[in-house]
Amino acid sequence: MVTIKSKKEIEYMRKSCYIVALAQKAIEEAICPGISTWELNKIAEDVIYKNGAIPSCKNYPSGIKGVPAFPAGVCISVNDEVIHGIPSKNVILKKGDIVSTDLCAYKNGFHGDATRTHIVGGEQSVSKDVKRLVEVTRQSFFEGIEFAKPGFRIGDICHAIGEYVERNGFYVIREFQGHGIGRDMHEDPGIPNYGKAGKGIRLEPGMTLAIEPMVNMGTSNIEVLDDGWTVVTKDGSLAAHYENTILITEKEPEILTIM
Ligand code: MF3
Ligand code: CO
Repeated sequence: MVTIKSKKEIEYMRKSCYIVALAQKAIEEAICPGISTWELNKIAEDVIYKNGAIPSCKNYPSGIKGVPAFPAGVCISVNDEVIHGIPSKNVILKKGDIVSTDLCAYKNGFHGDATRTHIVGGEQSVSKDVKRLVEVTRQSFFEGIEFAKPGFRIGDICHAIGEYVERNGFYVIREFQGHGIGRDMHEDPGIPNYGKAGKGIRLEPGMTLAIEPMVNMGTSNIEVLDDGWTVVTKDGSLAAHYENTILITEKEPEILTIM
């Protein structure tokens, strides 16, 4: 069921999303060669807890027998890891790595969700193509939200994202998708990063959606590592991810997870 948030509920969404933005900013300021993904996770979790929220991903059940719940507040995925990378003291970042940080905060009964992909050491540390992967992934979100307003359908967003990514020579993964968000981290509707324009539910003011292109350089195929969580590209090529929680309004969408 797709939920329409009331004024009060939207205020709570705003708060949770603001905390997500604060945690992402703290990661952005801290990320550098030599830091571990465990340390980055700690920095973000501290911001979330200090603001009276809970990192929603921490202890999130896998739903798979024998696979423990997600052990950290932030999914940190390095290079060929697409999503759900587990922070570790053993993963020390180096110049030229690309690192996605996907995190949610829960407060007052509502979740916010956003992802950034960082280039360790700055843009000069990678080739033109890698820089383009990160930029195309981010831009595909903005291409998608051109259609995130009344008068359009969910498929218009999905189509715009997929088209833009493929036109630029990269690949969206098909097994994971964006989602509605609110009292639950994952609500209806599902929002794939590909699809048919004109299909799916109509967009209405008060919907809150997490739109999240996951983009691979060489193939749309993925694999899950033995830890049961980490999703990697099948061909070992690089992957990027970008996500914001947005609010559908009468006019342009509001991006709740950007300060
Ligand atoms: N934040 C992720 C999303 O966008 C969820 C990560 S799965 C978890 O849907 F297990 F880590 F929570
Ligand atoms: Co999400």
